[in-house]
Amino acid sequence: MTRLSRRACGVQPSATLALSARAKELAAQGLPIISLVAGEPDFDTPDHAKAAAVRAIGEGFTKYTDAAGMPELRKAVVDKLARENGVAYTPSEIVISCGAKHALFNLLLALVDEGDEVLLPSPYWVSYPDMIGLAGGTTVPVPCRRPDFHLDLAALEKAITPKTRVLLLNTPNNPTGAVYTAAELAAALSLCQRHGIFAVADEIYEKLVFPGLDGSSRTFVSLATIGGKAFRDTLAVVNGCSKAYAMTGWRIGYAAGPADLMKAVGDIQSQSTSNPASISQKAALTALTEPDGAWEKRMHAAFEERRRIFRDGLLRIPGIECAEPEGAFYVFPKVSAWFGKTVAGEKIRNSADWTRLCLEKAHVAFVPGGPFGDDNHVRFSYATSKANLDETLKRLQKLFA
Ligand SMILES: Cc1ncc(COP(=O)(O)O)c(C=O)c1O
Repeated sequence: MTRLSRRACGVQPSATLALSARAKELAAQGLPIISLVAGEPDFDTPDHAKAAAVRAIGEGFTKYTDAAGMPELRKAVVDKLARENGVAYTPSEIVISCGAKHALFNLLLALVDEGDEVLLPSPYWVSYPDMIGLAGGTTVPVPCRRPDFHLDLAALEKAITPKTRVLLLNTPNNPTGAVYTAAELAAALSLCQRHGIFAVADEIYEKLVFPGLDGSSRTFVSLATIGGKAFRDTLAVVNGCSKAYAMTGWRIGYAAGPADLMKAVGDIQSQSTSNPASISQKAALTALTEPDGAWEKRMHAAFEERRRIFRDGLLRIPGIECAEPEGAFYVFPKVSAWFGKTVAGEKIRNSADWTRLCLEKAHVAFVPGGPFGDDNHVRFSYATSKANLDETLKRLQKLFA
């Protein structure tokens, strides 16, 4: 047997991918599986972005680019940040990576030393703790406020130690959908300043922020906007094309931060992957510089409608509680009222049992909350058709009637 490094042994396979694999296995057996696992829009990449990639191939734009990304694309990101978030960066403060995940990984490698602690509001996206661990850091999960999953600043402050190096925020949040307000981002930055902590915000779901279910308005606020000039040297933001333009497979993300940090990020990238695919960069350039308002509106409206329908339907299942997801495309209901009960002959002890029961008996796949840091909940992705969501609700309502 191969003797694996300690680093490799510490990595957990993604819970989401394991669930997807099991769902596919059952589907291959002919069972009518509906999967609400995936974290990707069920929309096609806009045509003009696809056409740009085809053109790039035709024109032979198929060689290495600058390791940190094509200058034009970095400039397009600078323009996007100025236009949409009101912040002034320069191309030397931007690195284009192979997805937001890669951008985050590079940033953590550049910021975190062995033994450093990273504060992570919990629930959190499953990949963060493994990325932090691979960088040599220790994840310090800090529970969010309930029931709305916004930041608990007192708890964050209490969790700070002399080893705390980074606060890692994700807004809109996967899995809770929480969208942090300007006031709480400002308070988080002030806390970081008082304690000499670097702040990183993963803003990949920026475009998916919905008005309140009570009709109130809600807007996305970037950490960089709140930080302005005063916090320029102590924060970085991560974003990308995966969710905004349904471009998950193209693998284009980016980070913006202080020039010395971004130089280090670019150097790390130059010694690992080099540039992201040249063809994908051309598609991203078009997506960013020629926004297709009608396409964006269509996707946003579809997600907004599904969010309402799906959450309303879940609330009709006895014992389920569900805060309003404010953004992204996930619903994160509390199902622990079912723990200790027996359904369809199966005893339910935790979120993994609840999830397995729904997969085996109702043929609906989604993810347990444990790997996201809260075992009382489960995560559904509503990035699928309304027909699938309606059928899911029907099956679950029947199973738990
Ligand atoms: C919070 C969060 N950040 C980053 C990513 C990954 O984005 P990308 O596909 O651009 O690497 C995901 C994907 O699910 C996510 O949920």
